[in-house]
Amino acid sequence: MFARRVMVVGTGYVGLTTGACLASLGHEVVCADIDAAKVERLRRGVVDIVEPDLAELVAEQTSAGRLSFVVGAGAALGSFEDGRPAEVLFLCVPTPMGAGGVADLRAVESVIEEVGAELAPGTVVVNKSTVPVGTAARTAELLERTDVAVVSNPEFLREGSAVKDFLGPDRIVVGSDNQDAAERVAALYARLGAPTVLTDAASAELMKYAANCFLAMKLSYVNAMAELCERVGADIGDVTEGIGYDRRIGQAFLSPGPGWGGSCLPKDTHALLQVADSADFEFRLLRATIDTNTRQRQRIVDKVRLAVTGKRTGSLSRVRLALLGLTFKAGTDDLRDSPALAIAALLRQAGAELVGFDPAFVEGSKNRDGAAPPTEIDGVPLAADAVSAAQGAEAVLVLTEWPMFRTLDWSVIATAVKRPIVIDTRNIVDPATLRRAGLTAVGLGRRGDGDIAE
Ligand code: UGA
Repeated sequence: MFARRVMVVGTGYVGLTTGACLASLGHEVVCADIDAAKVERLRRGVVDIVEPDLAELVAEQTSAGRLSFVVGAGAALGSFEDGRPAEVLFLCVPTPMGAGGVADLRAVESVIEEVGAELAPGTVVVNKSTVPVGTAARTAELLERTDVAVVSNPEFLREGSAVKDFLGPDRIVVGSDNQDAAERVAALYARLGAPTVLTDAASAELMKYAANCFLAMKLSYVNAMAELCERVGADIGDVTEGIGYDRRIGQAFLSPGPGWGGSCLPKDTHALLQVADSADFEFRLLRATIDTNTRQRQRIVDKVRLAVTGKRTGSLSRVRLALLGLTFKAGTDDLRDSPALAIAALLRQAGAELVGFDPAFVEGSKNRDGAAPPTEIDGVPLAADAVSAAQGAEAVLVLTEWPMFRTLDWSVIATAVKRPIVIDTRNIVDPATLRRAGLTAVGLGRRGDGDIAE
């Protein structure tokens, strides 16, 4: 394998994982970030995010001398061994949702402004961030360099399994109007042996949105199907198992939940809708996907209302509720666009009194660099454990699929609560276990959960 000199700008989930994983594939990698304190922590091997295997990989590759960290993209240019120039520059900077759902590209633009003119002839600039279609072309315009190629190489890793996903991808996508540059980027991953799709830049950019929006659509479909199951007396677990055996559908990504969230699916669905709008295409399917998701949060609140008061219009004023799980999914401490927090906000608006617990924010939680865990998140006070959160609650809501919720001692929870109701929005806790503990189980689209209907 041919080891390359790779510069990665941005050390968020994608950038740090890209840097550490490319180093583990044998490349010499320099990661740059504008946050000097973060760079200093990374040099000490401290990774701020909860991400399995990442801290270990960073430490391993740093001590192997293949991975280093610098402040600012400019500093990265001169940081390779023997002062040789970077051959590939990965842009892994944030592209948050700006006005009207369009991705905000200022971070990409400022990196180009800072180092564009300094890049050695023949460098390949790679866009790994999720960006609107046309960004590779715009990046090339901003660069004003005919001797530097721009390539789109979208990343499909998930938070919570970033390293595993990066090193075991379903596919590598590389898009460019410069075939040679695209092949050089694809070669960086050759050791992974993944199917590689070489295409033009616009198709690669669209592919990332197409994938995330398809996944969002799959989840909205499942959540709608779970609601239908409740109405017709069917069971969503059986239905998804049955349809999932069809290889064209697959078993993955079929779990109903409180709605999809996180830093990607909500941003990307809105951004693609915007792309469609500007192309004068009414993407109704995508709009319905988003609307179904918004409605899902309200649907959970309605379920709580009905379970606690026995009426669809009952009041939640001063009703104490325990919220188990606040992150957008298990395995991460990421709270961005978390459905749990959106539901918490709706419950609070309805007058409920909330206490939360999340295993990502407990005393001694990993990778926090000594910082004390927060005592509240978004106005929800945090308890030290699930039992304390459940103390005096009129219902316990399971909002995130942390495995520990499955194995909680629910009989202890049963003695702590004021009323024995568990609303499991992830269908992860065995209803029979809850019933044995004297608790009433309410899930999504499950057979036998109908006892609480009005
Ligand atoms: C998503 C995509 O899955 C990645 O392929 C993509 O690279 C990434 O966005 C990105 O664009 O960077 P991620 O945001 O980490 O990854 O989260 P997912 O695992 O996709 O989960 C998204 C949401 O769907 C979460 O709220 C999760 O709880 C929910 N979900 C997922 C379900 O409700 N049910 C499921 O069966 C799966």
